[in-house]
Amino acid sequence: MVKAWYMDNENTDQRLEHHRNPPEFISLEDLYKKTGIEYFKLNVDTFKTDGVLDKIKKERGYSYEDQITVSKECLPNYEEKLKAFYKEHLHTDEEIRFAVEGSGYFDIRDDSDQWIRILVTPGDMIIIPSGSYHRFTVDTNNYLKAYRYFVGEPVWLPYNRPADDMDCRKEYVDKLKKGFSVAA
Ligand SMILES: [Fe+2]
Repeated sequence: MVKAWYMDNENTDQRLEHHRNPPEFISLEDLYKKTGIEYFKLNVDTFKTDGVLDKIKKERGYSYEDQITVSKECLPNYEEKLKAFYKEHLHTDEEIRFAVEGSGYFDIRDDSDQWIRILVTPGDMIIIPSGSYHRFTVDTNNYLKAYRYFVGEPVWLPYNRPADDMDCRKEYVDKLKKGFSVAA
């Protein structure tokens, strides 16, 4: 089940929950309004045949997919990779992830530049808008298996902050100002 909350500013292990005290959770609806993140709940047992994912892929034009496993066993230089994933960055395209095993955190800046942490577990599909500053980490379980999707030839290139002059960033900031009011 996906959950999202505002983060504290403690400089401790990135894999911890980093709740504020007291915790400040945010609803999926507000998450969308404040960041543009879209969320879909899929059934991990039936997604290959139940048509729900196929419909999303068709509607959004996802023509490429692969799978990534973030774990000590599957990623060479694991600790270094984790640090790289956790650097605040943006992309010129959407980042689409569908968790099928394990868990992890996607952090995104809200409209006031505050970090929101999103916990994804099996069945959670999230779409991070192009031009939004975000980062990723596993949690203390150190394991996430997820599908990645893309429109056209995949480009995974991150642009670390600051990247405010990029067109995709300007477009995103424009949308943030106007508000993501139309439900996904
Ligand atoms: Fe990213």
